Amino acid sequence: MRNLQPTQPIGIFDSGVGGLTVARLIFSCFPAQEIIYFGDTAHVPYGSRSPQELIRFGDQIVSFLINLGVKIVIAACNTSSSVSLPFLQEKYDIPILGMVEPGVKAALQATRNKKVGVIATEATVNSGAYPRTMRFFDQEVEVFMQACPRFVPLVEAGKIKSPEARAAAAAYLKPLQKAKIDTLVLGCTHYPFLAPVIAEVLGPGVKLVDPAEETVKELATLLAEEEEAKNESTRPEHRFFASGAADSFYTIGRQFLGDLLFTVEQVSLNEEKKLPY
Ligand code: DGL
Repeated sequence: MRNLQPTQPIGIFDSGVGGLTVARLIFSCFPAQEIIYFGDTAHVPYGSRSPQELIRFGDQIVSFLINLGVKIVIAACNTSSSVSLPFLQEKYDIPILGMVEPGVKAALQATRNKKVGVIATEATVNSGAYPRTMRFFDQEVEVFMQACPRFVPLVEAGKIKSPEARAAAAAYLKPLQKAKIDTLVLGCTHYPFLAPVIAEVLGPGVKLVDPAEETVKELATLLAEEEEAKNESTRPEHRFFASGAADSFYTIGRQFLGDLLFTVEQVSLNEEKKLPY
């Protein structure tokens, strides 16, 4: 493992704007820490992609971020965390953090009746990563998975409080209400954008868990020795990249992050490069 330098940026990636929900928490916890964010908007949504595609995208993005000098990568995407994280952690020698284990730990702390719902993309549900990890830590917990494929396009289009979002939430959450869950993991980084609508449908009896908080605690442990990351007097210039359309990314990002987001650079990663899988 390489030595982490305080001045090196942290890389964060997602299929689009979802990872900004993680980035925003990092900005507030580590105001002096420079971030390089990559939104793979050329390939969003990841939820309907195959494992091979997700591994290829993750590989290209991590390699791009490492070339820009990042010291840590956060796969701020549950789909990538569920499917490609083991490959990426094996291949690269810098720390790569994901969302699933943090989400599981936070849910197990929150639940009282041990009935936990997880809403996620189809690829995350199909991977089985959440129930597997949940049972690794607690054999007794019952996990109810629900794929919500309409959510990500709604968030990417900025329709977070629209009638469509409310209708989709009501339909997706019904089986979880029937199962009497007391805790719901927002198992996709796009979903915290919809948290108000989800909370309205479920009411106060169900606790919503955003894995980002636990992921940022893991990051805090890695950064613990770095005084510079905690120095609030310096305000770094973050960089944002999008592989596809940058305009809607900019509009939503700007609403969410304010003036922390100045510009979005469009970049296309080399699709032609043949990789061994
Ligand atoms: N935000 C990502 C996740 O956490 C990806 C969603 C998608 O592109 O389908 O799973």
